Amino acid sequence: MADMDGILENKDKDYGIGTPVATNNYHLKGLEGTDWGIRDRMSRIFRPSTGKTVMLAFDHGYIMGPTSGLERLDLGIAPLIKYADSLMCTRGSLRSVVPANSNKAICLRYSAGSTILTELNNECVIDPIDAVRLNASALAVMISAGGTYEALTIKNLVKAADYGYKYGIPTMGVTAVGTQMARDSKYFGLASRVAAENGANIVKTYYCDGFAKVVNACPVPIVIAGGKKLPELEALELCYVAINEGAAGVDMGRNVFQSEAPEAMIQAVSAVVHEGLSAKQGYEMFLDLK
Ligand code: R5P
Repeated sequence: MADMDGILENKDKDYGIGTPVATNNYHLKGLEGTDWGIRDRMSRIFRPSTGKTVMLAFDHGYIMGPTSGLERLDLGIAPLIKYADSLMCTRGSLRSVVPANSNKAICLRYSAGSTILTELNNECVIDPIDAVRLNASALAVMISAGGTYEALTIKNLVKAADYGYKYGIPTMGVTAVGTQMARDSKYFGLASRVAAENGANIVKTYYCDGFAKVVNACPVPIVIAGGKKLPELEALELCYVAINEGAAGVDMGRNVFQSEAPEAMIQAVSAVVHEGLSAKQGYEMFLDLK
């Protein structure tokens, strides 16, 4: 057992007796039961130093077409990429405007199939091999709890999570809100928990009153969508309260790319999310940078 003796000797000398060499103290909740590939990709999305992410969302065109701020993806998005931790986009925009040497975690829009012109959420999922080919760090799937397509969308999430566990890619459950749904903690709590229980490793939902309850009842990290364009200070306040009530980051689109100064805005958002700036400090930073 000479080898074993050697290992023990080295361990005593280099690390001290009893100090664990490896640790399972992950920077995110919900990772204990997952495989290495999922943990690695989650660590690409969420900075290990803060446990948080600024995910730049620009998948809107898959249902809305060329929405305001995204008429020219090459001009609207390309300059922002370097400031984001991760990018949420379709495979179409990824292949057209995101350089492969950007080295950003990709949260791939994985469910699709309808537009704002008809009933939303009647979706299918894309081929998992294409997600592997694109080196996706997560598969984003819409679920519509309580909506007409509830069963279909939850089956899509289940399918994505099955593929995700097979290939080591996390799934992000994206909670849709129908017009008839209350935007409250009861609804978002239910939708988020359903997504996580069905296999999502990340949940994207909306901030609401009682948001901490939604976070606490969800066994995986939650990121919040920005929603419709707000004045910059209000958007930064939204980031601040969400982070302080337990969000693991933001998945923000319109409040960045529709801002009067998108590059300044994403840097201010990042400072609130990662550096603990207040909304007011973030806004001052935005004014300085713009
Ligand atoms: C909507 O189609 C997408 O899921 C968006 O990625 C998401 O809503 C975040 O974008 P925004 O901050 O503009 O709501």
